[in-house]
Amino acid sequence: MLNSIGLQNPGVEYFMEYDLPWLRTQDVAVIVNACGSTIEDYVELCKILNKADIDGVELNLSCPNVKAGCLAFGTTYEGVKEVTSKVREVLDKPLIVKLTPNVTDITLTAKAAEDAGADAVSLINTLLAMSININTRKPYLANNTGGLSGPAIRPIAVRMVYQVSKAVNIPVLGMGGIINGDDAVEFMLAGASAVSIGAGNFIDPYTSVNTVKGIEEYMKKHNIENINDIVGKVEMN
Ligand SMILES: Cc1cc2nc3c(=O)[nH]c(=O)nc-3n(C[C@H](O)[C@H](O)[C@H](O)COP(=O)(O)O)c2cc1C
Repeated sequence: MLNSIGLQNPGVEYFMEYDLPWLRTQDVAVIVNACGSTIEDYVELCKILNKADIDGVELNLSCPNVKAGCLAFGTTYEGVKEVTSKVREVLDKPLIVKLTPNVTDITLTAKAAEDAGADAVSLINTLLAMSININTRKPYLANNTGGLSGPAIRPIAVRMVYQVSKAVNIPVLGMGGIINGDDAVEFMLAGASAVSIGAGNFIDPYTSVNTVKGIEEYMKKHNIENINDIVGKVEMN
């Protein structure tokens, strides 16, 4: 899936008043994905979220930093470290830093998150991509470029999860093209303690439920009692 839907949403106050109460009636942890255009945006947002009835915050660092020529915060060691440490000062809840794959060495930005006090890192966000309509000669997306997700990116995500899990001592949450239990197990073998699903939900809204069932089937087939036992257990050639 190639998307450029942007991050528009009704804002944190609306979320807390209308969405959060319903989410809280579900038997699940609520982790809020937070974004901003400046460091001040992230800090303001996280001050508000710190008082909210949520279980944690995931910082989306793939957003353009308007004060740094619109380069994404997450593309440099310094950028990740600065925004993460400023947020850490105001946020007592678990802090996950979500990494962009649009870098040369993702272990550097992962280390920056760890050095700045993040409790975990999650990866990968979408890959910057473009597709052109050959008849009109125009890119399909009005924004020309967008973010690529879904099964096409899975091998890249698995490789990055493996590299990051070897480079940091905090938990790694894996994502990128998971659509079933086997895919989830692959990420866990690469080093992910947990996984999440984005584009797969557009193929089938039951993807997450079926993925849980698939993980359980794998555990039965391989006599695994505790799924944590497979985390990072890939046997390299
Ligand atoms: C339609 C769409 C919207 C997304 N919105 C966000 C977002 O708001 N914040 C974020 O951190 N990642 C966002 N992502 C990225 C996904 O969370 C995920 O990191 C990425 O798509 C790779 O996983 P997947 O292949 O399972 O989708 C979005 C992805 C899609 C497809």
